[in-house]
Amino acid sequence: MDKILVIGAGGQLGTELTEALRNRLGAQNVVSSDVRSTHSAEAGPFEKLDVMDKEGLGRIIDKYKITQIYHLAAILSANGEKNPLFAWRLNMEGLLNVLEAAREKNLHKIYWPSSIAVFGPTTPMENTPQQTVMEPNTVYGISKQAGEQWCQYYFEKFGVDVRSIRYPGLIGYKALPGGGTTDYAVDIYHQALKQNAYTCFLREDSYLPMMYMPDAVRGTLELMDAEADNLTIRTSYNLNGISFSPKEMTAAIQKHIPGFTIGYAPDFRQAIADSWPDAVDDSVARRDWNWKPEYDLDRMTEDMLANLQPAYV
Ligand code: SER
Repeated sequence: MDKILVIGAGGQLGTELTEALRNRLGAQNVVSSDVRSTHSAEAGPFEKLDVMDKEGLGRIIDKYKITQIYHLAAILSANGEKNPLFAWRLNMEGLLNVLEAAREKNLHKIYWPSSIAVFGPTTPMENTPQQTVMEPNTVYGISKQAGEQWCQYYFEKFGVDVRSIRYPGLIGYKALPGGGTTDYAVDIYHQALKQNAYTCFLREDSYLPMMYMPDAVRGTLELMDAEADNLTIRTSYNLNGISFSPKEMTAAIQKHIPGFTIGYAPDFRQAIADSWPDAVDDSVARRDWNWKPEYDLDRMTEDMLANLQPAYV
C-alpha cells in the first residue's frame, strides 16, 4: 500500500488532489502538508512543512513511511514577478529537495506540476507542440522549464520515477488560485454571482488554454496510474482542455445570468498572457496514457455556477 505526501495541500490544486487521493486510498494513507495550516488538516494527517526545509521533509517521509510525493507548492506567474529571486529559490529548491529525497530514500513515484508558462513569445501559439521553442519570460516559467529538465535528469541518471503535466489555467470551485495569470477565469464566476459584474485584467480577446478541475484531477491520477514503460515524456506532458477568451467566457455566463456585465482593465498580466499559447497539442499524452478531456466551456460554466451559488445567496 502506497503512503502519499502532498506538499502544498492548501493550494488550489492541492485541495482537490488531497481530497481525491484520500477518497481513493483512505485518509490515513495521504499526509497533507503546507506552510500554513489548511482545512485538509481536519480530514486526515497534516504536517506543517516549508518545502525549503530539507531536514523537515526527510523527517516527515520517515515518520509516515512515505512512498510517493505530490509536490505542488510553488509561486505562480503573477506573484513570481513581484519577487523574482524568492520565486526562483522556492520553486527550484523545493523541487530539488523533493527529487533528492526521492533518490536518497528510494521513493516509488513523484508528481510535480509544470505549466504552459514554460512557453514564451517565440513559441508557436496555436496547437503548441509537445517539443518546441521554449523561451519563457516570467520567473515562474523559467523555474518550470528548468524544473522539467531536472525531472528528466533525475529519471535518466537515478531512475527516479517522476511524472509531470504542463497544466493550462485550472478552474475549480473548491479553492481559489493563488496569484496566477489565469486567475480571472475563476474570479469571474464569483463576481458574477456576487455582484453581476466583473472587471477583467486581460483583454477580451486573450485566448488561453484552460481546464476544469475534475479533468485536471482525473488526468493527474491517470498519468500516475500509467505503466512506466508507456511514458515517453519525462520532462512534462502537454495537456489541452478548453481554450477561450474572456469575451467567450462572458457569453457562457450570460446564458445563466443574463444581466452579467464585464469591463476590461488589462494590467501587467496581459503581457504574460500574450506570451503563452492559445491552445496546446496534447497528442503525445493521448497516445501514451489515453488522455481525453471531458468538459467544454458550457458544461464547466453550468457546474461552476451551480456549485458556487449557495455561497452567494
Ligand atoms: N495558472 C498558472 C498561472 O497563471 C499557470 O500555470 O500562473
